[in-house]
Order: sequence, then structure tokens, then C-alpha cells
Amino acid sequence: MQTNELHPDLSLIQNADLNGKIVLVRFDHNVVKGGEIRDPFRIDRTIGTLFHIVERGGRPIMMTHVGRPKDKKTGKIDCRNDESVEPIIQYLEQKLHSKIHVPSFPVEPEKGIAGIDTSINLAIRELRERRIGGIYLPNTRWFQGEEGKGKIRESFALQLAGLADIYVNDAFGSWQAHASTYDITKHLPSYAGFLLQQEIINLSRVLNPERPFVAVVAGAKYDTKIKPLYAIYEKVDRLILGGVIYNTFLCAKYDIKIKGVLDDDIKLARELVEKDRTQNKIVELPYIVESDILDERIEGKYRTISTRGFSPGKSYNYILDIDPKSFEDEQVADAIGTAKTIFVNAVMGYTPHFSLGSQALDHTIDRNSTGMKMYGGGDTLQEFKSLCPGLYLSVMDNANYYFFTGGGTVLTAIEQGSPYGLKPVQALMATEST
Ligand code: 3PG
Ligand code: MG
Repeated sequence: MQTNELHPDLSLIQNADLNGKIVLVRFDHNVVKGGEIRDPFRIDRTIGTLFHIVERGGRPIMMTHVGRPKDKKTGKIDCRNDESVEPIIQYLEQKLHSKIHVPSFPVEPEKGIAGIDTSINLAIRELRERRIGGIYLPNTRWFQGEEGKGKIRESFALQLAGLADIYVNDAFGSWQAHASTYDITKHLPSYAGFLLQQEIINLSRVLNPERPFVAVVAGAKYDTKIKPLYAIYEKVDRLILGGVIYNTFLCAKYDIKIKGVLDDDIKLARELVEKDRTQNKIVELPYIVESDILDERIEGKYRTISTRGFSPGKSYNYILDIDPKSFEDEQVADAIGTAKTIFVNAVMGYTPHFSLGSQALDHTIDRNSTGMKMYGGGDTLQEFKSLCPGLYLSVMDNANYYFFTGGGTVLTAIEQGSPYGLKPVQALMATEST
């Protein structure tokens, strides 16, 4: 059963009075890597909300986080140039033919930005008087209060609120409760933007899928994906694994060793193996690529092996990709080919050198022309786009495909069983519309 409806308590941007208002809008434009935009998809998906704000007489102040500038252990914030919002502003200015102002605030070495000061007021006046098209704040995670605790966080939320009349959250990918995604809603009338709304509606197709439902999950780390993986396992009819997650599973299932797979993770994976002994949902990709070296793909140094040759106690070198032959296997082809819903959060191989597995996966999924195909995650999309550019372009507007702008958000929503448990979304339900 699918629902195209949003929870009635969610405050929607279309119900806000925007005329003449300064609108603080939080996007997830976290698309900058090494100082360059990797894929503008997340920016493009928010243009509708921006247009709506301006069209209805609002004046936008935009913000996003970029990267993870705060060191979790030391608490230090590193405001590196290659994690600035500059490339995003250049992209927007070019696309919108508009002038966007980026205020700058003093940066304390290793501490980040203390807060928003009154130097921004002049720009806000220019924004009101339409001499500039918008203001874009520095990377939210450069501010001490964004992820901080206590007073510093509270005053950052208040400073943000002081800039605007209304807050809009259109940052689907940013599910973590931070000052700019969560605390701010205590101080301003707050609404869900159009991208957030659309993503929530589409989430219901994953949460209440048409069956058979197949998920393809891969990832570089086993421990952080284990919880959502269990939640996915409960929901699916068939589960296909790739990447380190698959290698870990194989080690636990066949009692083998694979280079780079951690013993602790193998212990964790035994639970999944046990579960699957009775429920039998995991479809094995039988042909995998073993390589003697990690960072290159050198003829003679890698080979395809079969899981059917595994026996207890055997050791293998790195397993870095899925051999495309795996997708011709009857069970695999049948699982993917007959699915009514397919959710993919997976890069199958060790990029950039081992990518044939992901490529074959995308093409195999595409051959299922009637199923709903849902992709989630920045890396997953990036791989799809760079490995199968023609296919990616041709399916962008295909109604049987949907691309989420946040993979972590989808996984968290699956884990919680609902998008309304995500704290930034919850916060838009508590506030009253004006
Ligand atoms: C992402 O790229 O995954 C989102 O922007 C969220 O980023 P985060 O995991 O650093 O919060
Ligand atoms: Mg991510």
C-alpha cells in the first residue's frame, strides 16, 4: 500500500505567509569535495523551493553544512577552504543569474566561528531592498554552536532566528539534529520545503513497498550499517549485499578469512548469518573479484573466484568487486528481475579501480522495466552517474525511478519505521503555522 499523503501535522511551505518575509532556508547542499562540486543533483533538487520563496515575495537566506569539519574526538573545528560554500554560490549565481552574498565572520584557529555578528545587517538590508538575490551563510558546521552543546548552541540558534521571520527546512539528507536543522525551529515559525515533502512521500514506497521487495546494500563499514541493515532485513523479501558488508557476511557464513575484514565485525555478522539460516532472504552473488593489491587493478594480480569454492579455514586476499557474471546467476537474475520494488544503497566495488560490479548491477536493475527502482545515497548516485552516464540521464525523469538526496536519511527512516521519527522532521510538526 502506498500513500501519497503527508502527515497532516507537518507544516508545509505552501501554507506559510512569505510575502515580504526574510526566509531562512536550510538545504543539504553537501556536494563539495576537495573544493569542487562533485554532483550538483542535491542543489538542483532544491531550486523549486527557492523559486517558490522568491515568487511569493520572500527573501532567502540560505545555509548548508559541507563535510565534517569538526573532529569528534578533539572537538576542534577546521575551517578548510575546500569545505567552504563558495563553489555552491558560484553554481547558484550562474544558474539563477542572481547575486548572492556570503558574509564572513572571524574564524578562531581550531575553534571555528564564534557566532553571527551584526556585520550581516547591511547585507540583510540589501536583501530586503532586492539589491541582492540572496544571502548564503558560511558552512554551518564552521560555527561552534552548530554541533556544540549548551549555551554556545543555544545562542547560535537564537542568532540564526534573529536573521529571519520564517524558517524552512529542505535538507532531507541532513537528518542529524543540529542547531540549523533542529534547535532553530524553537524560535521561528517552521515549515517543510518541497524537496523534503517529496522525499517523505517517496519514503513510503520503501517503508510500505510493493512486493517482492529487494534491497541492495553495500558499504565500506560494517559496524555503522549493521542496525539499519537488520531493519532492512526484516522488511525485504530478498537482500543482496556488496562491498565490505558482503565480505564480512561471507567470512561469518563460510568461516573463511578475507584480508581487511575485521574480526569484531565478523562476530557481529554471525547474528545475520543465523537469522538467514531460517529466513533465507540473502541472495548470494557467487562470483567475486580477489586482488593482491588494494589501490590498483593490475592484470595478473586479480582474479575471479566463486563462493562455491569456499571451505572453512581458507584465507583470501582483498575482495574488491563483484564479477558481473554474478548477475547472470539464476537466483540473482530472478530476484532482481521479478521485484516490484528495488532499493539500492550500494557501491559494489572498491572505487575507483573496481567498478564493474556496480555497473552490472545498475544495468541488471534497469532491465526490470516494471518495478519501482529507488536509489539512495550520494556515493550510490555518483557511481551510477559516472559508470552509466547514458542510463542515468535517460532515467532521470522516468516515473519508475526515484533518486533520494540522502542515503543515510533513508536508512535511518527505515530503522525507525517512519520518516516522522527523524528529529528535524518531528520539529516541523511541533511548531504551529502562522
Ligand atoms: C550526507 O552527505 O550524507 C549528508 O549531507 C549528511 O552528512 P552527515 O552524515 O555528515 O551528517
Ligand atoms: Mg553520507
